[in-house]
Amino acid sequence: MPAPATAHDKADQIAVHPFENGFGCELAGLDLSQPLTQARFETWHDAFERYSVVVIRGQHFSVAQHVAFSEWFGKLEQYEDPKDQAEGFNTIIRVSNIDKYTNAIKSLDDIGHKSFTLGTSDWHTDSSFRRIPSKASLLFAREVTPEGGDTAFASTSMAWEALPEDMQQRIEHLTVVHDFEETRRRFGLPPRPPEIRAKLPPVTHPLVTNLPDGRRALLIGMHAVRVEDMEPDASRAILDELKAFATQQQFVYRHKWRVGDLVMWDNRCTMHRAMPYALERDRRLLHRTTVAGEAAA
Ligand code: SIN
Repeated sequence: MPAPATAHDKADQIAVHPFENGFGCELAGLDLSQPLTQARFETWHDAFERYSVVVIRGQHFSVAQHVAFSEWFGKLEQYEDPKDQAEGFNTIIRVSNIDKYTNAIKSLDDIGHKSFTLGTSDWHTDSSFRRIPSKASLLFAREVTPEGGDTAFASTSMAWEALPEDMQQRIEHLTVVHDFEETRRRFGLPPRPPEIRAKLPPVTHPLVTNLPDGRRALLIGMHAVRVEDMEPDASRAILDELKAFATQQQFVYRHKWRVGDLVMWDNRCTMHRAMPYALERDRRLLHRTTVAGEAAA
């Protein structure tokens, strides 16, 4: 577990304040409306690698600036559907219950919206359904709800470390199928058309992944359909058991949003979920960039 120290980057006056249990930190002294410098990026990146969730409050920046500083962390994933994109940027997805074109709150009769909402309200890892799962997400709050709508994060690397050794041995060589269609299937929603589904076919990943610094983490969550070569009931039971274990209070940080908060998290070793809010009453608009993962060397 990282030491509960407060690091201070004197050159750039950035302070890193780790949260109590060593999962997550707040960065103070960054103004993201200004171009990032190498020194500031390094402080931020080190905090990200060390604490997995980085909170930066009180920010004001444009959509273009959001893209620009996100690109320091790597290539960004793209969103093809214009209605999901913010201001025409195909690398920013709107995480929102507000219709981009009418500015009104969306109806849950909109199947795409319903599926996204159900999928993100359960524990998941962004893009675990891709051949190469993503490295990080950077979510920025533009409109927040008066109550509810927090985002909860769980450390799947702390969870892995805390698992009993016999369980670690039982699961460390298992592989899991992940599929973007799983939310629709699980909630009985109609599937997307075959030509759309063909763009994101089911993929297989190790259940236990290796991080560049030698830590290990569980790759589970909403998009995880089944453990390969295992009976369906046993497979569901093990995925549910691991999810319950990894989302115990000691592995969780819950972020209460204020307008101007940016939260970045490491998809390689966390899961997250949106907490309930009055979906058909309160407006919530967040913008997310997603940093693509890198193929194993
Ligand atoms: C997401 O899963 O990227 C969004 C989480 C949220 O809406 O809080």
